[in-house]
Amino acid sequence: MALARRVLGAPWWAPGLLLDGALRQRYESVLPVQEFCAGLACIARQILPHPAWVPTLLASAGGCPSAGGRGQRPPSLPDLWAHMPPPYAGRVTFTADEMLGLLCALAEPPHFGTAGGRYPEQLDSLADAFRKTAFRRPPVRILDLGCGVGHGTLELAEFTRAAGMHADLTIGLTREPLEAWMARHRCLPHDPPRQEQLRALPGTTPVHFLAGDVCALPLRGTFALVVCNGLVGGPMFDAPREMAALLSQVRRVLAPDGVFCLANRFHEGRRTGIERFRRAAEEAGWAVSGTWRNLLLRRRGP
Ligand SMILES: C[S@@+](CC[C@H](N)C(=O)[O-])C[C@H]1O[C@@H](n2cnc3c(N)ncnc32)[C@H](O)[C@@H]1O
Repeated sequence: MALARRVLGAPWWAPGLLLDGALRQRYESVLPVQEFCAGLACIARQILPHPAWVPTLLASAGGCPSAGGRGQRPPSLPDLWAHMPPPYAGRVTFTADEMLGLLCALAEPPHFGTAGGRYPEQLDSLADAFRKTAFRRPPVRILDLGCGVGHGTLELAEFTRAAGMHADLTIGLTREPLEAWMARHRCLPHDPPRQEQLRALPGTTPVHFLAGDVCALPLRGTFALVVCNGLVGGPMFDAPREMAALLSQVRRVLAPDGVFCLANRFHEGRRTGIERFRRAAEEAGWAVSGTWRNLLLRRRGP
């Protein structure tokens, strides 16, 4: 670390520092992000249960051949640090005790922002939908796509229970196996305050967390309620072919009279992408209602 600082000279990266071409080049010439990530990915493969658990950010930087180039490669080390929370950002050396927290921070960077209480309008729309047929016929099954570390999934399961609906199965599915692990164990080694929030959420109904891709759902059977919040139209999921794949996957698993809800808290600049998704859904035969921040889709026809 001291050597890196000496060779790189000032200014050393700090949160909020403008990342321009000159700064990136300076860091790349001394500490190429690809090498840094390859080293971390190598350690990650030793300590995680399977190579597929290596966080996408490391895998996509070339550190993990089995990852097949998922995700975006950060152009320089400061770009990678900008995705990490304070205890880990701006550092090139870590102790063995810090590794799990570091990998969890890379799998679930702060900008994912998974937390409880993010979508109150969606819960209002659901209270209305619960009066409709699919929810009156037990068993009700719920699926939360792109669930992150599970705050929203647990909240949804509890909301459904409190509304008098018996959900015999709730599944949260997310891309990063480490996120699913964190959700399952309610353990966020990189973020103790959010871990406390997660642990405080009720666990009165069965909730399972899985790793998987929303474009290729590893699930059978049907769900009365499918939710996908904070994903579609955002920076991680705005390609038309991904949107089409999601719609077709949800059509396959949604009960005939079920609902598919998508809420987000993206900035206004993301609105166009979500409206593109809305049009794609209508063209694919879905009945769509709600606003760009809180969409509700129902299947039309068979
Ligand atoms: C911004 S977070 C939103 C988390 C949570 N739904 C919420 O709104 O609080 C987006 C989540 O989607 C997951 N994700 C991204 N692409 C995915 C994909 N193709 N399949 C499944 N999950 C994905 C990410 O790992 C991340 O947990």
